[in-house]
Amino acid sequence: MPQPEDPRILELRKMRAQALAGGGEERIAKQHAKGKGSARERIEGLLDPGTFNEIEPYITHQGDEMGLLKEKFLGDGVITGYGQIDGRTVYFYSQDFTIYGGTLSEMQSHKICRVMDLAVRNGTPFISLIDSGGARIQEGVRSMGGYAEIFRRNAQYSGVIPQIAVMLGPCAGGAAYSPALQDLVIMVEKQSFMFLTGPEVIKAVTGEVIDAESLGGAEVHMAVSGVAHISVPSEQAALQTVRRYLAYLPSNNVENPPYHQPASLPTQVDDSLNSIIPLDPGEPYIMHQVIEKIIDPGSFFEIQAAWARNAIVGLARIGGHTVGIVGQEPAVMAGVIDIDASDKMTRFVRFCDCFNIPLVTFVDSPGFLPGIAQEHGGIIRHGAKLLYAYSEATVPKICVITRKAYGGAYVVMSSKYLGTDVTYAWPSAEIAVLGAEGAANILFKKQIESAADPNAERKKLANEYREKFNNPYYAASTGYVDDIIEPRETRLKIIASLSALRDKYSPSPPRKHGNIPV
Ligand code: HXC
Repeated sequence: MPQPEDPRILELRKMRAQALAGGGEERIAKQHAKGKGSARERIEGLLDPGTFNEIEPYITHQGDEMGLLKEKFLGDGVITGYGQIDGRTVYFYSQDFTIYGGTLSEMQSHKICRVMDLAVRNGTPFISLIDSGGARIQEGVRSMGGYAEIFRRNAQYSGVIPQIAVMLGPCAGGAAYSPALQDLVIMVEKQSFMFLTGPEVIKAVTGEVIDAESLGGAEVHMAVSGVAHISVPSEQAALQTVRRYLAYLPSNNVENPPYHQPASLPTQVDDSLNSIIPLDPGEPYIMHQVIEKIIDPGSFFEIQAAWARNAIVGLARIGGHTVGIVGQEPAVMAGVIDIDASDKMTRFVRFCDCFNIPLVTFVDSPGFLPGIAQEHGGIIRHGAKLLYAYSEATVPKICVITRKAYGGAYVVMSSKYLGTDVTYAWPSAEIAVLGAEGAANILFKKQIESAADPNAERKKLANEYREKFNNPYYAASTGYVDDIIEPRETRLKIIASLSALRDKYSPSPPRKHGNIPV
């Protein structure tokens, strides 16, 4: 005869069903009507099937400020737990907009901090799925203190485990500092926005009128502010992007990045590279194409593609191994280095160094951008960050000078004596303090002025200078480049260098931490 179900089990099932219901059918339908998934649907899209384990689903807010007691929801607006991505464990949280708009209460913060602590203790990546009205207004300082707890962990765990923020709805007020402290910020176009003060406050304080999308939507954070790293058209694409990104990374700072069987043989080289650099040094070419022809096919994961487009940063694989690519895009502003490009490259170099990702740098830059706005904007301070980052990085560093490496740009872009392990130059490389015309003007000012034909004299002297310095041979003769190679040899040379540098040991002097010029 079948036993009656234990009432305690029935009670648990009831509680579970209540926790699964979130803010209720009506609010979930509202979320769907906006084209957004529920917090639980998003978790399904993120993880390998059947690997989700929830933690603390019965937590509710505590207290009764402004009538809060009237409505208590299990989970308190956030789902936390762990699961797997491509067979590797990750910890995460997913804010539930159907409960108090996903806002952060003291207890929600406790839940989030709990999974952050477990992630760092177990050396796994941490993922934030963010969809929230910010601090829960009713809880006042308790919710703000909750944010402080999260920010502190974001900072302390930075460089220990990868932290990824996926923006799936609003992220208003100081809450935006949590994604800003993480390694990767992914935004969904026309669905997510981030700002410290919203359109209403801005209107009241400065009189400026703007809507939420134009103020802090994906497009603006991709192209103007540089706050977002990747934008995608849908939340499914955002979740897939997390999975793709993690495939390049180790789970923590003491592991090496995973190896992936390359789609092409390491020996497969692209002969067309030998004719990619125009004979006229003033003519641009596309560095993205150079990169694509050297890395494993289709492996480029570009970061901040729409911001500071004169610089390129992204992850890739060469011969199956993860590398961080840094470079200039000569087709944009001739690849000059300005304030934003310095910041973009600095952050990426430091990210790669945190997670044992070798750096491959492609250099083609006429130098730092001249101008009053740049000088007054602190280009010295910003450029210094890049010097700091390359000098500090102890991962294998390989540099390829494809064309221009002038003055400051030569030095900051992974130059040999910043500690770069291998420096290659293509025959098209021009390595000098200044371009030929500028150098002739300064060095031979009197001679040019007193010549019968100053223009012809300048041209003649510039040509002499060009022959001496605007090529890689002077640099190679003095040991400033290790080898001059044909462009089509680059892939093989990088693979060989990576293999030779795999066990690189480069300890730094002990210190609490450095003082990067932020
Ligand atoms: C409590 C909130 C809330 C908040 C929204 N809700 N924001 N509850 N505290 N901050 C609730 C609403 O009452 C509503 O409850 C539900 O969430 C959904 O909100 P709606 O307004 O109906 O949704 P929508 O029209 O989509 O607008 C979403 C929104 C808007 C853009 C996020 O709600 C908004 O502007 N909220 C305030 C944002 C804000 O200023 N936050 C504080 C930032 S300062 P019901 O019961 O109807 O479902 C901050 C300080 C952090 O975060 C400090 C750290 C340093």
